[in-house]
Amino acid sequence: MEAFSTVFIPNKGVVLAGSLFRLARTSELKLDFNPFVDQFKNEFSKNSLDQEEAPLHKEKWREFLKLTKSHPLDLEIGTGAGHHFAHHSQTQPNRFILGLEAKYKPLVQSIRRALDAGAQNAFMVRYNAYHIEELFSEEEIDNVYIHHPDPWPKKKHFKHRLIQDGYLDRLWIIQKSDTFIEFKTDSRDYFDWSLERFNNSKYKKIEHTFDLHNSEYIGDNFVTQFEQIFLNKNQPIYWAKLYK
Ligand SMILES: C[S@@+](CC[C@H](N)C(=O)[O-])C[C@H]1O[C@@H](n2cnc3c(N)ncnc32)[C@H](O)[C@@H]1O
Repeated sequence: MEAFSTVFIPNKGVVLAGSLFRLARTSELKLDFNPFVDQFKNEFSKNSLDQEEAPLHKEKWREFLKLTKSHPLDLEIGTGAGHHFAHHSQTQPNRFILGLEAKYKPLVQSIRRALDAGAQNAFMVRYNAYHIEELFSEEEIDNVYIHHPDPWPKKKHFKHRLIQDGYLDRLWIIQKSDTFIEFKTDSRDYFDWSLERFNNSKYKKIEHTFDLHNSEYIGDNFVTQFEQIFLNKNQPIYWAKLYK
């Protein structure tokens, strides 16, 4: 009987040599290759963690990041290309920022952008943000930034929206007191949905506007990549700040 030989391919694991041949023939291998996985795991391994290791640092993030027990530790959920992530690290050198992303490309873009700007106070984590309680314990986090999360516009997909009653409860638990969540979206429908949940949440005060750029809250707002897309179309940006 013919012996099966196996080959290891990054991101695919061990495959039979025969199937490798079939994949190569259909150029599926080429299409599957994601250069950002390699960069994330090698080039930026000192400044980021993948999902297998990240939960091991629950309750110990400050220790792991060599911060004092009281050092401000902020969290950005869904950093995208990382413009705000890098801006925060540059403009607030006395705070540390952790970025949470699901996808490798934005993970790499975010950490690269921050490091290129000289950041020593920024770290990226690959994790599904829905399961935030697996990463952080009670009162481990300071301020939270959620900018333009995926709006999931179809009714049958509402369950995938990040903002849910239970999710706000979990964020409230992991945040210290006297901290905030800054939330922005370009979707009116998602904003209405979120406001309803914000008002039912444990957060003690909620400020909001249906047009951030023509409001008293514009202050030191930083325009994110997605925000710019909608500003270019003359569409309003919906904004809220929740205080714990
Ligand atoms: C629409 S983009 C917004 C990016 C950026 N915040 C901005 O304002 O330009 C949403 C980002 O959230 C990330 N994301 C979506 N669902 C996520 C999840 N469950 N956990 C972590 N990141 C997620 C996506 O990969 C994407 O980079």
